[in-house]
Amino acid sequence: MADTPATIYLKDYTPPNCLVDQVTLDISIHAGFARVAARLAMRRNPVSAGGPLKLDGEDLQLESLSLDGQPLTASAWRLEGETLVIDEVPDAFVLETVVRIDPDQNTQLSGLYRSKDGYFTQCEAQGFRRITYYPDRPDVMAKFVCTLHADKASFPVLLANGNPVAQGDEDNGRHWATWEDPFAKPAYLFACVAAKLDMVEDYYVTTSGRRVRCAVYVEPGKLDQCDHAMAAIKKSMKWDEDVFGLEMDLDHYMIVAVGDFNMGAMENKGLNIFNTKYVLARPDTATDTDYQNIDRVVAHEYFHNWTGNRVTCRDWFQLSLKEGLTVFRDQQFGMDMHSAGVTRIQEVRGLRAAQFPEDAGPMAHPIRPASYAEINNFYTATVYEKGAEVIRMIHTLIGKQAFRRGMDLYFQRHDGQAVTCEDFISAMQDASGKDLAQFQRWYNQAGTPKLVVRSQFDAAARRYTLEVTQQFPATPYEERMTKDGLPQARGPYHLPIVIGLLDGEGRELPLRLEGETSPVGTQRVLELREAQQRFVFEDVATEPVPSLLRGFSAPVLLDYPYSTAQLTHLMAYDTDAVNRWEAGQRLATGILLEGVAAIQAGKTTNDWIPQDYITALARLLGSAFVEGGDPALVAEALNPPSENVLAEQMEVVDPDAIHGARMTLLRTLARELREAFLAAYLELASDEPYSPEGEQAGRRALRNACLSYLAQLDEAGAQALVVGHFEQAGNMTDTFAALASLASLDIPARHVALDSFYSKWRDEALVVDKWLQVQALSRLPGTTADVRALMTHPAFDIRNPNKVYALVRAFCAANPKHFHGADGEGYRLAADVILQLDPMNPQVASRIARCFDRWRKFDPARQALARQQLERIRAASSLSADVAEVVGKALEA
Ligand code: TRP
Ligand code: ZN
Repeated sequence: MADTPATIYLKDYTPPNCLVDQVTLDISIHAGFARVAARLAMRRNPVSAGGPLKLDGEDLQLESLSLDGQPLTASAWRLEGETLVIDEVPDAFVLETVVRIDPDQNTQLSGLYRSKDGYFTQCEAQGFRRITYYPDRPDVMAKFVCTLHADKASFPVLLANGNPVAQGDEDNGRHWATWEDPFAKPAYLFACVAAKLDMVEDYYVTTSGRRVRCAVYVEPGKLDQCDHAMAAIKKSMKWDEDVFGLEMDLDHYMIVAVGDFNMGAMENKGLNIFNTKYVLARPDTATDTDYQNIDRVVAHEYFHNWTGNRVTCRDWFQLSLKEGLTVFRDQQFGMDMHSAGVTRIQEVRGLRAAQFPEDAGPMAHPIRPASYAEINNFYTATVYEKGAEVIRMIHTLIGKQAFRRGMDLYFQRHDGQAVTCEDFISAMQDASGKDLAQFQRWYNQAGTPKLVVRSQFDAAARRYTLEVTQQFPATPYEERMTKDGLPQARGPYHLPIVIGLLDGEGRELPLRLEGETSPVGTQRVLELREAQQRFVFEDVATEPVPSLLRGFSAPVLLDYPYSTAQLTHLMAYDTDAVNRWEAGQRLATGILLEGVAAIQAGKTTNDWIPQDYITALARLLGSAFVEGGDPALVAEALNPPSENVLAEQMEVVDPDAIHGARMTLLRTLARELREAFLAAYLELASDEPYSPEGEQAGRRALRNACLSYLAQLDEAGAQALVVGHFEQAGNMTDTFAALASLASLDIPARHVALDSFYSKWRDEALVVDKWLQVQALSRLPGTTADVRALMTHPAFDIRNPNKVYALVRAFCAANPKHFHGADGEGYRLAADVILQLDPMNPQVASRIARCFDRWRKFDPARQALARQQLERIRAASSLSADVAEVVGKALEA
């Protein structure tokens, strides 16, 4: 059995005892190996204790080591596991190392690795130590100069951070280039590339007049898929100037796309490296969602230049300092660029689908965890998405202007530093005057809080009272902390509840709180600080319908006993788009849970679907076509909560009953509203040239939502419509929508479509991913076996993360009916992949292992099957720390 990985604690943080001022790297790439010579100008950290110099190194072959020009004798240094220790160093010195590495065999995609078109790096979080010996921690910031050497014909493009300073040819058809980054940075932001790539460039002139060269580098032949990413760079630069007064600080801003990449993209200073998925787009290869994701990821990485790079993290426990804040920034950008309501709704949906389950499962952790075994396991929905919600709450509590002052102060104080989450909160507190001490509990407590809200209406006194109680159930995180002797004091959160009150006509009431002399608007931010708190509204003539937590103002579960009539009222009249949508989701959830109970009781009827709900959806669909209607919002509202989100509502999850209920609801709606869906489908047809922008994309979203309802009808006519949609589609959004529907239909046209799609797109990797994904998500019986068979198809490659995510993760994370199949075959498939992948790429293997997080929520038979696979994984010899931590916590909790 694998060793339990060692735990690292935040409380053990100590400053580095030696600092690096200047790094000079010389990387020479050859077939089968690379040689890295590093010259580190170092000195003792004046504010830290002495002790030996310790450098991190992983999978390096040390060829030489010298200090101040003198080779170190054998007794002067030693290797302790993955640490190079030198006992005696002077106050200031130059350390030189030469190591040999093997990028061609680097399947982890961390450090320097080979991909199809050349060599690329990924250094966050701890990949730099796989390139050279170094104090690989973010609070060591140095200036870097990097020279690359490689074969000129095979790898004509040589890039690193900063500015190009020199280049030339050398013997044997090789060439070299030197790049210099003027900004001190932590090693995790280092990047270099030696590859054969095509490039498109453009210029952006900043407010203060800096002419920035923006370049996008892609696989040869793909320049026709770069326009959108380039436009996104320039939009992001403009937005950050307009909204935060932050300018690009370098003369070169480069994005390099690579097909083998563990995550979305990486913000290396001036040289971002991107998964091709977030760069390449052409109307016939990318969907509207892909286009939007490109905007968001490009913005995210660009925004990191200030929030992450200029001000970075002291240690990896502070990851949310840069990630939560940068996600918040890319979300604000998204809301400004696209429909604000739809953007926010999609975020709330994502939070519920991924972060809430994480926070209720064995890996639950605060946005700043106090311990971890493997840092790569903490690039989570909690650190990113809940982290962004926490920043958003500060924004709501102190207001936009104070938030901007807080950001200015944060940069004034900390530009060029590696800091903590407290430093950020202090800047916000000092700039706003708001006491944020209690607010910091969001950084230390795990789990999703629950707000129980009850209302009372006193007609005689014309008074409406909301009583709010907050609960914060324990998670396995606290148990672990207690076991480790780090018990966490827990207490109520400080959070904003944005509310409005609607009268019987659907009008917003002016809101006057107890103690106020006159109403202050129709929407208020209530500040909750106590475990129990009441808010009293005066001058309320009739009992209102409360619109609570508008815009999803806090990442909590809301318990309010809404009646069906109240929800229908909110669906029709709430001025807040999120809450209009939310009312529909609540209504659907209630109905679906009744359906689940009916199915469990052996009923096969659909009489648990109220006619009122069908009428409400018909009205909703109609609302897209009136003046001011928003088809994109309607498309969101037509989509009931996913099977996974419904599962979170159940004590013991019954995936078959959930699937059955949801399918029955969709089919019933399709039958009852057939004419309306068909009319909308026809009405929304368009022959405009394709643009991914809001208006058009919204109409396509609604049209494709109608199509997917119609596809549920077990009728030749409806199926012909789907096939026609597939055949006539003029863009990938429509093609993909039709293919996704066809993948779940047991008709000959399914195979015809899948085959023709594959033969058309077999050479376009990202499109092949879509082909794998639709099959992984199929509802048809036999899907688990199909996924297993696809793993041996030439289109699949287990070493490519995008392929694994498209086929295996889609299946495990988004096809609950089959993943949780009662025969245990889904679990066995996942375990097989994890075991096969772990020795090659532990980060990706570990992400698949997270699919077992919720195993204890299922019935005893499924629990036994899942446990069997978890135990089987744990029993493997030499498991990575990544998988060992995830599987260990799953079994332990
Ligand atoms: N900092 C990157 C981002 O959020 C995340 C990232 C990219 C990453 N590649 C990684 C994290 C590899 C860990 C490992 O944009
Ligand atoms: Zn990020």
